[in-house]
Amino acid sequence: MTSKISDTALSQLSDLVASKFGMHFPKKLWPDLERRAHAAAQEQGQQNLNRYVQLLCSGASPRELEALATHLTVGETYFFREKRSLEILKQHIVPEMARVRAGRQLRIWSAGCATGEEPYSIAIMLSRMTAESMDRNATILATDLNAVALHRASEGVFGDWSFRDTPQWVKNGYFETTSGGLRTIAPAVKKMVTFAHLNLMDDVYPSLLNGAHALDVIFCRNVLMYFTPEAMRKVVGRFHRLLAPEGWLIVSPTETSCELFSEFTTISFGDVTLYQKPAVGPQVSVGSPAHDGAKFLIQAAPGIPVSDESSTTSSWAHQEPPGNESCLLSARILYDQALAAYKQGRFHDAEQALNTLILQSPDDTPGFLLLARVHANQGRLAKALTCCDTAIAADKMAACAHYLRAMILQEQNALPEALLALKQAVYVDPHFVLGHFTLGNISLKQRKLKESEKHFENALLLLARYEPEDIVPESEGLSAGSLREMIASPTGQGIAANRTGPPHLRVRVSQRLGNPELSRR
Ligand SMILES: C[S@@+](CC[C@H](N)C(=O)[O-])C[C@H]1O[C@@H](n2cnc3c(N)ncnc32)[C@H](O)[C@@H]1O
Repeated sequence: MTSKISDTALSQLSDLVASKFGMHFPKKLWPDLERRAHAAAQEQGQQNLNRYVQLLCSGASPRELEALATHLTVGETYFFREKRSLEILKQHIVPEMARVRAGRQLRIWSAGCATGEEPYSIAIMLSRMTAESMDRNATILATDLNAVALHRASEGVFGDWSFRDTPQWVKNGYFETTSGGLRTIAPAVKKMVTFAHLNLMDDVYPSLLNGAHALDVIFCRNVLMYFTPEAMRKVVGRFHRLLAPEGWLIVSPTETSCELFSEFTTISFGDVTLYQKPAVGPQVSVGSPAHDGAKFLIQAAPGIPVSDESSTTSSWAHQEPPGNESCLLSARILYDQALAAYKQGRFHDAEQALNTLILQSPDDTPGFLLLARVHANQGRLAKALTCCDTAIAADKMAACAHYLRAMILQEQNALPEALLALKQAVYVDPHFVLGHFTLGNISLKQRKLKESEKHFENALLLLARYEPEDIVPESEGLSAGSLREMIASPTGQGIAANRTGPPHLRVRVSQRLGNPELSRR
């Protein structure tokens, strides 16, 4: 191995790593970067480090990047780390959520979960609450960039180092001791957590499919501290969009920052600072430099055409009585107001404008679909579904409406109904790439491997008509090239994963929900 690497190559590598993974390797950390790159190169069978870096920088495949990432990440973690946050979750956040969310499942995300100690600690805390008569269910989604760590997390077997500052009651009550002194997590706790691969720098979340939307609590501890300032801002902006109103962001005590979390309300619990999204959406302008929120919010929404681009064609036009121009104008204004409010996260304002619009035009398909998204983004899935049904009743040929319906049904775990809705979407529009792609995902989830391959093949066939940089119709700016890569990606993102990936990674986490920046006429 040629181990000496030029400063130019290290600088390029540091830029690549920042843009792909958000990680910050300033010059003083270059020796560390070099050591890690060296290990990655060796694993990849590359003898010349300079050449390896050049190959990476001149267009690495997702598989190569994934391999590199496993050598760059710091996976330090242990059970009940920073336990005050967990106590606050139990004593304050969950009881408050029980009151505010009234009957809805609590949705928690451990973003950057490493080998699983954090999400399992959350699950233990919640199961303890259940024992103390907390009858609410919770879903815990745990994601990480490092596929090797995720695999270990899903196995749920831990050595002493994972319990280095862990209360005895946790060790005694929630593990079985196996040979060699290892401890295996109790099955009841294990099944509370769903693991998935997700790069926080990718534009793949939130989505109704991966569960990362309308969240109540995000734990992202000891992750942002490794990021560049730009990456931190990007990710925190997204977290803000992902959280339901009054949702909580929990970072580690060393990561608190007035500037970075300025859109949140800062709440102190003694020496612990947490961040809460205000009850009403933020009054930020589109394109605010503090975050990429406007774009993100669009991504958060299921794929339906709702744009103000009146020149774009759509298969479903605004249904107004001919000649009724003032009505048309006021419907248009109301819709535009609702869309602007929606983009800024002012869901309440969006809902008000849409209710007025719908009162005026009860057959307004785009209006109902935007309202469905407003509800879905706040976790009100039943209402969102009703809006979709009304939209479809008004226009059965609206493929996007069927698609959105499928996303919501899938979120409700009604997979057969979701499949049916997707089949309707591709029936009314056989060229609907995202429809085929999602059919592939659901089949994959159901372990119907042949079917899923067929759907992915259909998606690939349709994608062959596009240039790599073309934007996939109804996607939120996803390029055809990226979607192709997702289908072929090795980790839980397509046909290849289906054949080789560990089972918990097989569910695609990069489902796109479609582009609301399409036409309304
Ligand atoms: C130090 S561990 C933190 C684990 C846990 N949250 C805790 O506080 O104990 C940091 C984790 O962040 C993950 N990570 C780093 N960059 C990431 C990215 N771009 N996307 C997702 N996860 C990332 C790493 O793989 C690593 O597992």
